Amino acid sequence: MKDIVAIYPGSFDPVTNGHLDLIYRGSKLFDRLIVAIARNMDKAEPLFDMEERKDMLEAMTSQLDNVTVDIFEGLLVAYCIQKNANAVLRGIRAISDYEFELQMALMNHKMEPRVETLFLMSAEKYSYLSSRIVREIAKLGGPLNGLLPEMVEERVRRKIAQKQSYSTGTHLIK
Ligand code: PNS
Repeated sequence: MKDIVAIYPGSFDPVTNGHLDLIYRGSKLFDRLIVAIARNMDKAEPLFDMEERKDMLEAMTSQLDNVTVDIFEGLLVAYCIQKNANAVLRGIRAISDYEFELQMALMNHKMEPRVETLFLMSAEKYSYLSSRIVREIAKLGGPLNGLLPEMVEERVRRKIAQKQSYSTGTHLIK
């Protein structure tokens, strides 16, 4: 049997229980799984910087021996070749994800036929969950229970409070 090294790429801003479910399942399927955080120039105003996201992902996956966390820049397929990875893992939550995922998988395969994209269906209970929606609910003070690991939820709350106190200038008031 061939050694399968898979890359699970994403923004992970922040990592959710949906991402973790995919990481656990992926770690059972592949010999090695690299969770790769993309330095994405297009995304405006991230909640966490790259190192913070890496930190949280590492803490959440420390018990999985064959999983590592990394940050990458540039083309995903170039990163896959650099890491000797032969697969990309992505999750599909709903039909709405399919079109974008299909486009990315086909384009990546055209650029680099040595790399295959493999999909796992997201667990039903996380099928409505996304980092974007988590950020929005958190900014508006809504409930996050069950969506994020406890430690991540705490850091999200702290980060939002910090950002809000900076934007209103209350951090200057002693
Ligand atoms: O978590 P996300 O935001 O859905 O992840 C998107 C990601 C990071 C997988 C995608 O934007 C990506 O692969 N970026 C790297 C740049 C690249 O290779 N672009 C061409 C894709 S066909």
